[in-house]
Amino acid sequence: MTTFTFSNESPADLAVDVLVLPVFEGPEAGPGVKDVKGLDLLGLFAATGAKGKRGESLLMPNTGVKGLAPKAVLLLGVGKRDDADADACRRAIGRVAGQLAKRKSVATTLPQIVTGRGAADPFQATVEGLLLGSYRFERYKSKANGAKLGKVTLVGVAKADAKAAREAIRRGVVIAESQAWARDLVNTPALDLSPAELAKAAQAMARQVGLTCRVWSDAELKKGGFGGIVGVGQGSVRSPRMIELRYAGGKGAPIALTGKGIAFDSGGLSIKDASGMEWMKCDMGGAASILGAMRAIALLKPKVNVIAAIPSAENMPSGSAIRPGDVLRHRGGTTSEVLNTDAEGRLVLADALAYLAEKKPRVIIDTATLTGACMVALGDELWGAMGNDRDLIRDVLVAGEEAGEPGWELPMHEPYRRLIDSEVADIKNVGKRYGGAITAAMFLREFVGDTPWVHLDIAGPAFHDKAGDYGPKGATGSPVRALVRYVVDQA
Ligand code: BES
Ligand code: ZN
Ligand code: MN
Repeated sequence: MTTFTFSNESPADLAVDVLVLPVFEGPEAGPGVKDVKGLDLLGLFAATGAKGKRGESLLMPNTGVKGLAPKAVLLLGVGKRDDADADACRRAIGRVAGQLAKRKSVATTLPQIVTGRGAADPFQATVEGLLLGSYRFERYKSKANGAKLGKVTLVGVAKADAKAAREAIRRGVVIAESQAWARDLVNTPALDLSPAELAKAAQAMARQVGLTCRVWSDAELKKGGFGGIVGVGQGSVRSPRMIELRYAGGKGAPIALTGKGIAFDSGGLSIKDASGMEWMKCDMGGAASILGAMRAIALLKPKVNVIAAIPSAENMPSGSAIRPGDVLRHRGGTTSEVLNTDAEGRLVLADALAYLAEKKPRVIIDTATLTGACMVALGDELWGAMGNDRDLIRDVLVAGEEAGEPGWELPMHEPYRRLIDSEVADIKNVGKRYGGAITAAMFLREFVGDTPWVHLDIAGPAFHDKAGDYGPKGATGSPVRALVRYVVDQA
């Protein structure tokens, strides 16, 4: 069992398996290093050639040093002292989290590298780095490694810190566990995660944390006029769903969330090239991030109302699939001409956005692995933000920055709107190749009316083709932390 506790004892007195002490670039002793007497820790670290760059580490067994209780000390490079912030904590500890998960008890002074304003954030970030960094997806391994963090002690300076630090630790646990669950959903192969199975997972989660959940069946979606979800889903033998979740924590209009839940994106009849198609099990990354965020919101209980409507379908080519040239009628009546069945995300989101706009929410936020174009523009660490409301765009960018899941705004350049004008329907589902992230967002904008709305294109950050500072190759669960931060900041 993993447990986290706060302590303000001297780190040298803690009887743990490993004591993790930070070292700044130089190398320069970080908090706690000088509390260890009788051993020239920094000298040994420097002698190995280590400079204190982030992720460098040196494990030293305690061979009976007088007055030193931990069984071993792990010196951990955290980078430049001037760059020491919550994200530096998350990233540095994330690098060694897998190794720490093999020990029964661990303590660290790492959060103390951040001084001044927001002194609780580094505690939250350290917990997130440990839990996310030790995350492994082992569902299909006959011999699982199964290493799990044991007892973790986070060492702060003063008694005064204790209350804020304990709350930050709990936030970190809730958010990281929710993000890890989102990773599980995304990493699960499409074979085992159809729209119905995604909906089942959402229902089970809702029951556990006390959210209201309604799953819309294929027939109900047809009856309700959700032509985009039904259309995209009709090529698959596994029928589409919409997952509706509600959290009631306050007064007033809700914050509305939605996320793209394509169980598998083969491209449909506009079929994708075989190379890399296996990644398209990740095309429900937006849906998973919203589900993860809803889980965390239910547990953290901010004083706001939140509603989520998550469309899920499988995009497959078959005799019953939609064809290029077909026209779909979306919730609310807007029609779209499908010129490329691989631009399916916007078709399912259109219905969910129109449905959410009917609820008169204060804002709508959607997350979607929507375009390769956004990945080309911003790489795989930044999401693209596009919307119709300056304040909302700014607020989500700030939340992303604070949560260590940053994004960047792309412009809604009005002259591009004509690229999605259609001859036969109200709008068509593709523009031209250039500016593809922007025309995709402009398509979505047609469905939100005058509700303040922002779209996060997470095609890059939803999953990584190699391990990062606090996660293995595969699903990242992003941007769960940014979404939760936004909602909690609003309360
Ligand atoms: N799911 C893809 C976008 C994507 C691509 C996500 C790569 C993650 C990695 C989306 O449905 C798609 O196929 N988009 C097309 C749109 C095009 C047909 C207008 C794209 O980006 O090529
Ligand atoms: Zn897709
Ligand atoms: Mn596609």
